[in-house]
Amino acid sequence: MGQPLLHHLQKVSALGIIIAALLPSMASAKAVQLHSPDRQIHIQLTDDNNQAHYQVNFDGKTVINPSKLGMVFKQLGRIDQQLQIVDVTTHSNDSTWEQPWGERQFVRDHYNAMTVKLKHNELVFNVEFKAFNDGIGFRYHFPKQAALAQYTTLDIIEELTEFSLPDAHQSQAWWIPGRGWNRYEYLYQHTPVSKVDRAHTPFTAKLSSGVHISIHEAALTDYAAMVLDQRRDGTFRADLTPWSDGIRVKTKPGFTTPWRTIQIADAATGLLNSDLILNLNEPNQLGDVSWVQPGKYIGIWWGMHINENTWGSGPKHGATTSETKRYMDFAAQYDFDGVLVEGWNIGWDGSWFHNGDVFSFTQSYDDFDLLKVTEYGLKQGVRLVGHHETSGSVTNYRNQMQDAYDLYQQHGVTQIKTGYVADGGDIKRVDENGVVHHEWHDGQFMVNEYLYSIQQAAKRGISINTHEPIKDTGLRRTYPNWIAREGARGQEFNAWGTPPNNPSHTAILPYTRMLSGPMDFTPGIFNLAPEGLDAVNRVQTTLTKQLALYVVLYSPIQMAADLPRNYVERLDAFQFIQDVPTDWQQSIAISGEIGEHVVFVRQNRANNDWYLGALTNETPRSVDVKLDFLDSAKKYQAQIYRDGDKAHWLTEPYDYVIETKAVTAIDTITLKMAASGGTAIRFKAL
Ligand code: NOJ
Ligand code: CA
Repeated sequence: MGQPLLHHLQKVSALGIIIAALLPSMASAKAVQLHSPDRQIHIQLTDDNNQAHYQVNFDGKTVINPSKLGMVFKQLGRIDQQLQIVDVTTHSNDSTWEQPWGERQFVRDHYNAMTVKLKHNELVFNVEFKAFNDGIGFRYHFPKQAALAQYTTLDIIEELTEFSLPDAHQSQAWWIPGRGWNRYEYLYQHTPVSKVDRAHTPFTAKLSSGVHISIHEAALTDYAAMVLDQRRDGTFRADLTPWSDGIRVKTKPGFTTPWRTIQIADAATGLLNSDLILNLNEPNQLGDVSWVQPGKYIGIWWGMHINENTWGSGPKHGATTSETKRYMDFAAQYDFDGVLVEGWNIGWDGSWFHNGDVFSFTQSYDDFDLLKVTEYGLKQGVRLVGHHETSGSVTNYRNQMQDAYDLYQQHGVTQIKTGYVADGGDIKRVDENGVVHHEWHDGQFMVNEYLYSIQQAAKRGISINTHEPIKDTGLRRTYPNWIAREGARGQEFNAWGTPPNNPSHTAILPYTRMLSGPMDFTPGIFNLAPEGLDAVNRVQTTLTKQLALYVVLYSPIQMAADLPRNYVERLDAFQFIQDVPTDWQQSIAISGEIGEHVVFVRQNRANNDWYLGALTNETPRSVDVKLDFLDSAKKYQAQIYRDGDKAHWLTEPYDYVIETKAVTAIDTITLKMAASGGTAIRFKAL
């Protein structure tokens, strides 16, 4: 397999990969190095002291101090000592691939790679590194081999991968707690890196050197999710979420881990423009996916969250045939593709929370006629968006899954929102012997369970929008019907959350959660305070910030989450929601700082129009935006939805101005945003 190291040295030097003997006194120690194509990022792996450590620099600045690699298996013990680099092979790539839907149609996949073979006694394993201009990825591969021939299973007790960040007291982090009861649904904390306890990924930091990084993973399949556990100041261990029996990962010889990823950029916006996570996923495995349709939807949903309706039966039941038809009429009139209906199926009466066994996924309540509503919708070009709340009883769901997906397929439903409401660690798994186990949402069992639902749905031409999901690791590239997911605090928290989402929440999301993939945040609340501006539970934004979310928080499916009557009252502002597309030719983050503000521009995939979304945290601010992204040969009408002079999320959230301006690519416009305000613009090509 491998070639002698010295021979290799000559062979790969063109790629900027160097293999050198280190100190003469440690003749056996080796160092292998890799550069990104633009040579800004530099990775070094050494086997000093017979341990494997990697380190990463960017532009000459330390991003990752020497950090350990290794694994502990039940069957093999610790694999982190007596390690030796025995071979390295390299390759590089510069190609472009096409997304069926996404933030951009074409993605450039440009990297240098090295696979380093490490030896531990008789055992060999590989660590494969890829260096892109926007960050790095690495993963382990334990091939089948004589030393493992006697093992049919391998149980991972611990992954020893570390990420050691420099200057932990001065570097800053934005993070949510890992292994918490509320899964990923937390407000972000902004602290020195040294104050982080155990954090989910994407984990984003601004190092004291000014370099911005985000640690995450790509292509998480048949493995446990990694949370980051700070063991010493700045040093984080890849802490794999265990099964209920304590094993982290149940695998076998020949396995490969997900990619451990570090996005790296000098500016915060660099993180937002990175395609690293998608590039580290496998290509589409589903073939023709023209049936996966981006689009916009409304739904019988917010009414339940603000207590106007109920999921369960009774006088306030939301999911009735007549109410669904009313929503479908509205959808048809204002050009929405779908109507989500929650609470249509038996099980919502009584206590479903923590008790998902009560749900039937095929039987409707008496006042909901699936056939009638789907036929009614299809005549007008509107589809029912299906809904399955499992409340974490995944065995109950799996037992009904084939029938449930068949039923929806028969009725022309092409998209289902699934839900896994249950406390972290409280997923109910019933094994073959009828014994109940409680699993984490991000353990290996659920990683596989979520993907199973995607694969089963794909067979029927159905796309899935997962709530209370496993975090996104870019699997939409491989399974484009995994169209969106939640996986952070969404709009629902403004209805009942304690506390609701604060003004900085959506100024942090782009730099954290959104780096992993599309989010079903459900923007577009127009009645920002159903119980009055002083109520605790209200939306802490201005109205135009709600519009900006459609551009800022990318998802191929976007909901107009409010009640139709609230849109009818403000049809002028609603026009933006009608116009904004959900599928893009390209996307560019042009200005922003983590937790402060963000400005995104995106080009409609269907024509030459551009859209801008800008939002700010509690601090009002002005941002100048050069329009040089526009086509220089064209003139545009800018349709601007902005905060008025008195606007403030707390006192004057409805003070907005809608105006138009003729602009071209040589112009600059100044965005003036109120406290927790925002701007949304459509640049209509003339
Ligand atoms: C939580 C989901 O995030 C929300 O959208 C849904 O309405 C409820 N679960 C009920 O399924
Ligand atoms: Ca949720």
